[in-house]
Amino acid sequence: MAAIDNGEINRIQQSANIVEIIGSYITLEKKGKNFFGMCPFHDDHNPSMSVSEEKGLFTCFVCHKTGNVFSFVQEYENISFIEAVKIVANKVGIELDTGYKETSKYDKHYEAVDLALKFYQNNLKSQEGLNARKYLQTRGIEDEIIEEFNIGYAPPNFDTITKLLTNKGYDEQLLIETGLSARGQTLYDLFRNRITFPIHNPNGKPVGFSARIYEDLKEAKYINTKETPIFKKGKILFNYHRAQNEARRVKNLIVVEGQMDAIRIYASGVKNVVATMGTALTEDHVKLLKKLNVTIILCMDNDEAGEKATIQNGEALTNAQVDLKILRLSGAKDPDEYILKHSKEEFLDAVNNSITYFDFKLNYYKKDKNLNKVDDISKYINQVVKELNKSNDSILIDLTVNDLAEKYGIDKNVLLNQIIKVETPKISKIEVRKEKKLSKNQKLSSVLLYYMMNDTKYIKLYEQELGYIPNEEYLEIANDILAFFLKYNYISIADFITYEISKDNYEKVLDIVDANIKIELKDAEYVGIVNKIKTWIDENKIEELKEKLVSVSDINEKLNITNEIAKMKKRMCQNEES
Ligand code: UTP
Ligand code: MN
Repeated sequence: MAAIDNGEINRIQQSANIVEIIGSYITLEKKGKNFFGMCPFHDDHNPSMSVSEEKGLFTCFVCHKTGNVFSFVQEYENISFIEAVKIVANKVGIELDTGYKETSKYDKHYEAVDLALKFYQNNLKSQEGLNARKYLQTRGIEDEIIEEFNIGYAPPNFDTITKLLTNKGYDEQLLIETGLSARGQTLYDLFRNRITFPIHNPNGKPVGFSARIYEDLKEAKYINTKETPIFKKGKILFNYHRAQNEARRVKNLIVVEGQMDAIRIYASGVKNVVATMGTALTEDHVKLLKKLNVTIILCMDNDEAGEKATIQNGEALTNAQVDLKILRLSGAKDPDEYILKHSKEEFLDAVNNSITYFDFKLNYYKKDKNLNKVDDISKYINQVVKELNKSNDSILIDLTVNDLAEKYGIDKNVLLNQIIKVETPKISKIEVRKEKKLSKNQKLSSVLLYYMMNDTKYIKLYEQELGYIPNEEYLEIANDILAFFLKYNYISIADFITYEISKDNYEKVLDIVDANIKIELKDAEYVGIVNKIKTWIDENKIEELKEKLVSVSDINEKLNITNEIAKMKKRMCQNEES
């Protein structure tokens, strides 16, 4: 996973008090042995996250997020493991050697994109980039901003970047996989004669480009990197990596459609801005935004498409219980144009006057109607009532009903009768890790593993008595626990989560911890579980023998197998009696 050595991570974890670290993000209160707080990973209404100082773990009893100090910071800040380790190190005052790098199987992909970025960037400054530079100038994009956003220029030739990277040893498959090159009769550059805007992932690594024409050509205005192993469109928002800290500081984030809009807003000093790059917000985008825990100010273009996008994105965000405001600019087609036409100050005024999503919808529903006509009034009121039925805010409901009654001369009670009181909102769908239905044997395995994660004596007993679980998934985790124990000669869940488990097993281990965290460890119980698993192993063996019995023809062998089955059944009975 990481190139920081385990000793170092261990030192940081030992020095970090999980209650203090989590307490620096959310308010925690001591209740009994543990601390409790509002869970930041779902829309919590009661403090349902418990933090155990002794175990070094946190767990939410509603959304079932579980983990150690590093996973909390990682989830909360939406950053990589290494970044989380660095933050925790910083908080406990441990200096980390810089230069630690996260290794992944896509290192070469990242490298190639970064090289392309630097090449395009230099190329913009060359003679070849003169016209592209002029274009940026006419749009009022200053050199400083060109530098900060790593804006570049892709040359018009057929295969400049392809050749450059090939000469550096990157192979064809990798170039195609990064979306930098494509295969025709020969390999060619995807971006040609365009201004390039690098797109970064939330950790700040460049993963792709959006590239704009700058001359009057009959081509698509922008072409973008296709979906690649490192560029998952649905998970990336332009400028997120630069905006996130500022957003947390000022407690809101402006979301616009175009990267040029984001750049303009950023350049005018408002750095808490991201762009959707013209697509609708996906569930993953919403997750990314929700994690910031700030008000989202949705500012789509000033056209019909922008209005539709406001509704679509607005629904996605409100369904996830994100705090939402809507900003509609008038007299300009998008924020970029608005700021150029007016000023930064006027834009800021507009931001401060953003309206609620509810008010936006009330206006939106009026648009295609003539509210002097009974028909349209009725349609309109029905739409508003439908919206009110989604709300829990009784004050808002009352104010709106009064307003409608007065404006359209309707009896208030008629309206109120249409309002059905809804239940308290459900936990956001996307945040909840589903509790899995486990079979009896799966439950046994889960408890067995939980014991093992808590005390080395249970690991030793497992080795002596079982050494095996007849289920691949659980067996793998048992082996991981053994490996941890052999390597470090102790066990702790928090440390085990950090060092030893593969990504695939991570969720499973957290499920196990979460499912069993409340149980009390008792030796006699453990022995009982071990015995039950022995029975399970025997049952499996009997099944195998029965199958074998059918397939062999030699009468002596058949007899042997039958005897063996009988013996095993007898032993199982004795086991159960004991
Ligand atoms: P817009 O057409 O609103 O572009 O598309 P814009 O942001 O105002 O760009 P400028 O000011 O003309 O330079 C919004 C976003 O949709 C995506 C881009 O990400 C763009 O920023 N888009 C647009 C494309 O991917 N391809 C296109 O051909 C057009
Ligand atoms: Mn524009």
